[in-house]
Amino acid sequence: MSKAVWIQHAAQLVTMHLPEHVGPRTKGDMSELGLIEDGSVWLEDGVIQAVGTTSELKEIYESRAQEAEIVDATGHLITPGLVDPHTHVAFGGSREREFEMRLEGATYMDIMNAGGGIHATTRMTREASEEELIEQTSKRLDSFLAHGVTTVEGKSGYGLDLETEMKQLRVMKYLQEHHAIDLVPTFMGAHAVPAEYKGKEEEYVNLIIETMLPKVAEEKLAVFNDVFCEVDVFTPEQSKRILEAGKKLGLTPKIHADEIKPYGGAELAAEVGAISAEHLLKASDEGIEKMAEAGVIACLLPATALYLREEAARGRVMVDHGVPVAISTDCNPGSSPTTSMPLVMNLACISMRMTPAESLCAATYNAACAIGMEDKVGSIEVGKQADLVLWDVENYQKLQYLFGVNHVQQVWKKGVQVVG
Ligand code: NIG
Ligand code: FE
Repeated sequence: MSKAVWIQHAAQLVTMHLPEHVGPRTKGDMSELGLIEDGSVWLEDGVIQAVGTTSELKEIYESRAQEAEIVDATGHLITPGLVDPHTHVAFGGSREREFEMRLEGATYMDIMNAGGGIHATTRMTREASEEELIEQTSKRLDSFLAHGVTTVEGKSGYGLDLETEMKQLRVMKYLQEHHAIDLVPTFMGAHAVPAEYKGKEEEYVNLIIETMLPKVAEEKLAVFNDVFCEVDVFTPEQSKRILEAGKKLGLTPKIHADEIKPYGGAELAAEVGAISAEHLLKASDEGIEKMAEAGVIACLLPATALYLREEAARGRVMVDHGVPVAISTDCNPGSSPTTSMPLVMNLACISMRMTPAESLCAATYNAACAIGMEDKVGSIEVGKQADLVLWDVENYQKLQYLFGVNHVQQVWKKGVQVVG
């Protein structure tokens, strides 16, 4: 067991702990940070043992001070470890040429329909060995940690055949066991119709339902089942069939919804009881209402919108209408090759008019809710995993105000310092 850690004198300790409140937060609750000034935390056995002001913790722990590594956080902000609830982190290769093509005028869907995009990464992921994928993915996870992210969701979806989908999920399982970060796996066989099934889309949908989903569930390789419900990818009807089939096998639905064109994805998320709907750039007013009623979390990806040079999702409207909002990098080789959750928090403010407080809630507690991890991570409270970030700014507003910069100074995962 590692030594206890005693953090003292944090200028601001953002706990995100709202006693009496359960489940994802929206409206005014997203601004409640559970803020403690001159804050202190005692970490031991991988778990948060006590949280309060420095003088409160001194009353309990002064006699044990010599057992702990003391961290003087004077002038610094402490937050929960950030949670990234939507990534495609386990992929082979890269696609920088497409970035240039899009700057020259090609659209994301033009490139995909011409055999690039997701299809290009599928080829590179099929070719990569399991060891190569582990190595490449592990480096990306290191970069997430360096940006203060201690829990990440990861999707398959660059295999699009049974063998490679399973390979991606096994890579994530290996990294969950061998990398410091927590990695929560999602099956996304319905990320695209693979080239060899062009014109036989229904056959591919059947392959997912009859072969892939049962195998993934049997080997317990995923918690969630995600679908790219988009014009020219999977229709709402096909998406519904795939998500309902997953539900029967114990996989919770998620949906890439209304990203490029409006397509009723937000409405479908409410109908199938998805835990979250992703992107939502083109979500309709009705879809937003339905998500609020059904309690579907909107997982918004403002870095993707920026990278595709699209208008960001209507984050402000969603929060005000009672939709719980989470934010994420969408880390993937095409539409958002970044691991920077701090940048995503900045963009939540700049492009979606969320406040610094709401953006922090969306990147911690609500993000944990979007992947069913809120009992373990997403807030600093007694009994939760000791996942914390020390930032070299003295208040949470500055974290968003000084944008595009990585202010991470130290990171602890399960009580062990992994950065700094
Ligand atoms: O979430 N929209 C679909 N999937 C990813 C992009 C994947 C890729 O381009 O490789 C997304 O943006
Ligand atoms: Fe995505």
